[in-house]
Amino acid sequence: MSDKITVGLDERAYDIHVGSGLLRRSGELLATLASNMGAKGVVPVVTDSHVADIHLAALLASLRQAGLDARAIVMPPGEVSKSFAGLERLSGALLDMEIDRKGLVIALGGGVIGDLTGFAAGVLKRGVAFAQIPTTLLAQVDSSVGGKTAINAAQGKNLIGLFHQPRLVIADTALLKTLPKRELLAGYAEVVKYGALGDATFFEWLEANGVKALAGDEPAMIKAVAHSCQMKAAIVARDERETGERALLNLGHTFGHALEAATGYGDRLVHGEGVAIGMALAFQLSVRLGLCPGQDAERFIRHLKAAGLPSSIADIPGPRPGAGELIRHMAHDKKVTDGKLTFILVHGLGRAFVTRDVPLDAVKEVLAV
Ligand SMILES: NC(=O)c1ccc[n+]([C@@H]2O[C@H](COP(=O)([O-])OP(=O)(O)OC[C@H]3O[C@@H](n4cnc5c(N)ncnc54)[C@H](O)[C@@H]3O)[C@@H](O)[C@H]2O)c1
Repeated sequence: MSDKITVGLDERAYDIHVGSGLLRRSGELLATLASNMGAKGVVPVVTDSHVADIHLAALLASLRQAGLDARAIVMPPGEVSKSFAGLERLSGALLDMEIDRKGLVIALGGGVIGDLTGFAAGVLKRGVAFAQIPTTLLAQVDSSVGGKTAINAAQGKNLIGLFHQPRLVIADTALLKTLPKRELLAGYAEVVKYGALGDATFFEWLEANGVKALAGDEPAMIKAVAHSCQMKAAIVARDERETGERALLNLGHTFGHALEAATGYGDRLVHGEGVAIGMALAFQLSVRLGLCPGQDAERFIRHLKAAGLPSSIADIPGPRPGAGELIRHMAHDKKVTDGKLTFILVHGLGRAFVTRDVPLDAVKEVLAV
């Protein structure tokens, strides 16, 4: 059982394959792509050491069987690789492999590997093609689709980057079985986000099936991933460069990034957990401003809890970050235009909108609850 979604970007259009057991078929899919592109030479596979231990051998075997000269580049796991040092190391390894200008680079991993590889491919020899094989739920439903690539700077996350669309995305939901439960849940926050921002029917479906998908029900997980990709693909096709609608995908992120920064981007709070709490705060702020019915916020928070996600600042272990500190972090976030904070708020479940008009006092009140 698998699904194919196309990201409709004219000459840069590409397919996303979603299904269980696709890693074994990826050689065939990627060899077809390489041949259609007229790609030559080695096919580097960039991954991290966690993923390499579990899934790299199967991918290399599949690629080689399909006639591709696949060679691995294994990076250290974690955000540390999404750095200038990581970029230097990866670009050096790609150049040492004498990657052709018409070559194809494959990213096998979570958002860190996808973002780093996409960026490195985008700047290497002024741009070589890349394909994504996302291995975390977050990467399957979010970061592997849409072409945003980046590394981090000392001044903040994702500040050095470019838009570089992949040529193909292969999301094998069977790979999620080896993902630590906490990472799976963190990715689920991004799945819930799609329901909350633009599709109340999908949210309803998640209320009925989300916990099942998280517990290992494959058809449910395939549907959750495929529907999320469909929504992201449609938004990206309408607004590739985030001049409008694409900003809705940042629901929960202004708060979430501030929480991540205040907790030191560490083990206390991973990205998806920050997004989950951030979305809950966005609903609460919307209710406080009289924009959203209270029942919708309650229902949203009830689902986060049912899934096992945090939904309030009080759920973060350790000392509670203060409202003032969080607002300072938000002001440093890149989503600041003309000194005003940009928020994604909601009129209800499935009805998000962008606003630059939020009184800071209301934000402080929500952060202090
Ligand atoms: N480009 C975008 O549009 C976009 C969107 C959202 C997030 N991001 C970025 O994505 C990054 C986070 O991505 P992530 O949450 O996937 O983190 P990650 O890539 O660090 O992966 C999380 C952990 O899981 C391990 N792992 C990955 N797949 C595994 C598997 N199948 N089995 C066992 N372990 C596995 C990794 O080694 C790592 O330790 C952040 O840097 C964020 O900025 C980018």
